[in-house]
Amino acid sequence: MNLIDIDDFDVPQLHRVLDTAAALKAGEEEPPARLAGASLGMLFERPSTRTRVSFEVGMTELGGHAVFLGKDDIQLGRGEPIKDTARALSGYVDGVMARVKTHEDMLELAEYADVPVINGLSSEAHPAQIVADLLTIREHCGFEDTTVAWVGDGNNVGASFLVGAAMVGLDVAAATPEGYEFNPDAVERAAAYDGEITVGHDPDAAVADADIVYTDVWVSMGEEEQREEKVADFAGFQLNAELLAKTDDAAVMHCLPAHRGEEITDDVMESERELIWAQAENRLHGQKGILVELL
Ligand code: CP
Ligand code: NVA
Repeated sequence: MNLIDIDDFDVPQLHRVLDTAAALKAGEEEPPARLAGASLGMLFERPSTRTRVSFEVGMTELGGHAVFLGKDDIQLGRGEPIKDTARALSGYVDGVMARVKTHEDMLELAEYADVPVINGLSSEAHPAQIVADLLTIREHCGFEDTTVAWVGDGNNVGASFLVGAAMVGLDVAAATPEGYEFNPDAVERAAAYDGEITVGHDPDAAVADADIVYTDVWVSMGEEEQREEKVADFAGFQLNAELLAKTDDAAVMHCLPAHRGEEITDDVMESERELIWAQAENRLHGQKGILVELL
């Protein structure tokens, strides 16, 4: 199977991935023997700190190894089509994790690869991030009666989060500026699950009942030319002390990298409310859960 977005897993499978991640993290389980010597190709069209390092270290800790394939280090950068890259890689590796610019390229990669393809961030989705996010929330307060506010852009991470959160029964109250709403397809998919999803444009209303407030950058990779316009349009959506004061001691999440002073303030990132570094560490444990499930 492929993991193009989080709902490629069914609900029991998503819980199993979280259980595996938690058990490996706690040292309660050994990596399955079949992963010894397994290979993961890691294709990157954009930069990465967490995704790259956590998948590579995760594969090593599972007994396999990962091959880093930067776009400009392979023939893809000279115009070799994605579908040819997919077919050639399938002859060498047991799985491909890819960060590509467009979701269409992700779908083409998955169509032509005959090994599992894992989305390591596309324009539409970031399922590997969501596994780590859910693991972090499960550790912090569990899923029952938990409400998460998403404040900021209706972007790739946010869309996958809505779906993944709904799958495990979390309630999500989201506020995006007008014109920056979530992909309606993601909202519709999320609505099919147990968690209650509310999307709107009012940050104060979104955080009112929140146990956790989650944000991501306003300017995603590839949107640098829109920075000035987006920063102006997102006024009032910053995760700062004033907004947090409207919650009952809510915790704070951010998938990173953060632009301090834009979507989140430095004092909030450094405050005792943050779950951000646990979330970042859980990328490693989450990747292992995904790799054990797929490879
Ligand atoms: N959150 C995340 O995917 O970070 P990187 O861009 O560093 O991989
Ligand atoms: N929304 C961000 C996430 C980075 C992990 C981006 O696409 O750049």
